[in-house]
Amino acid sequence: MDLVNQTKESLIAKLNSLPASEKASILKSNEMKALYAQIPKLKPEERASFGAEVNKLKLELEELIAESPTDQNNLEKPFDVSAPFGVNAKAPELFPATGGSIHPINQEIDKLINIFYGMGFEAFESRQIDDGWHMFTSLNFPEDHPARDDYDTFITEEGLIAPAHTSTMQSRILSLRKNDLEEGRPIAAVVPDRVFRNEDLDARHEHTFHQIEGIYVDKNINVGNLIATLKTFLSSYYQKDVETRINPFYFPFTEPSFEFALSCPFCPDDRSGNEDKNSDKKGCSICSQSGWIELLGCGMIHPNVLEMAGVDSKKYSGFAFGCGIERLIMMKYGIEDIRHFFSAKLKFLRQF
Ligand code: FA5
Repeated sequence: MDLVNQTKESLIAKLNSLPASEKASILKSNEMKALYAQIPKLKPEERASFGAEVNKLKLELEELIAESPTDQNNLEKPFDVSAPFGVNAKAPELFPATGGSIHPINQEIDKLINIFYGMGFEAFESRQIDDGWHMFTSLNFPEDHPARDDYDTFITEEGLIAPAHTSTMQSRILSLRKNDLEEGRPIAAVVPDRVFRNEDLDARHEHTFHQIEGIYVDKNINVGNLIATLKTFLSSYYQKDVETRINPFYFPFTEPSFEFALSCPFCPDDRSGNEDKNSDKKGCSICSQSGWIELLGCGMIHPNVLEMAGVDSKKYSGFAFGCGIERLIMMKYGIEDIRHFFSAKLKFLRQF
């Protein structure tokens, strides 16, 4: 036991003389090792009590080490809880950010909605992801009909569809507002929103673009109402009478169906020599030499579409149209390439 006490005294003296960072080395000092080495040399009956004394000394030393004051110059640096740069410091100026602005497409969408509000229409949003029922079935596309190929778009592995047109909202709006008809009010709605197509890109075609859908249903609605509504809308948007061409077309969800084209504003003024005998314009590369730019599809809503949405097609009829918003804007401002809209070119955007 004397040996343990003697070692203890000398180790405590040594401990006090060591800097804080080195005090723990006492536990592995030669003196401690000598004590442990002693144990197997003792008589068996002395080993347990000697071992317990050595262990007690070790615990006492550990406690003294833990309690000893920390070296001042070896203190852990406190955490810096302040912001990475001073709150009052000026943020780095990455761009000459004098203020953002609304994208030209959204600026024009606001104008379109306001025109239709003035004509008694309400506005809905479309979906950015939809299903086969709203994309095709509710719109009277027969299963496996080739007309589905005109709306080739992006489909998830689960079968969800990035809508290729805003007509996906027709059935929803008809179902939602059908009771208005019984109460003597027409259904009158527009849907301006984004659509997607697997498309070969050129000056008039984008893979992601915008359409504005319109539907109007009431008693005794006919093609005359459709044409009058579209002409009123177009002359209000362009602030002048516009030259339009209406051709018969095919959509499964309208009957009869039409395509509305606007006189191409990009063609040179020389109106002679157009290959299209029905046109007196020369044509240019933007309108594929036709003198006209296709703006929208339209027609009288097919009775099957009305019936599937729960509207009595014997009592009510209506028209629908779907218009490319980028093309509307291009013709208003003389933008010759649709790809400018998503090019993120500030030179283009700052003109609006
Ligand atoms: C349709 O999308 C029909 N849903 C329109 C419709 C609605 C018909 C209601 C009847 C009743 P279409 O595929 O033709 O039709 O597209 C309509 C318009 O969207 C076109 O006239 C054109 O202005 C615009 N458009 C079509 N594809 C593109 C494209 N890839 N890039 C830019 N605009 C496009």
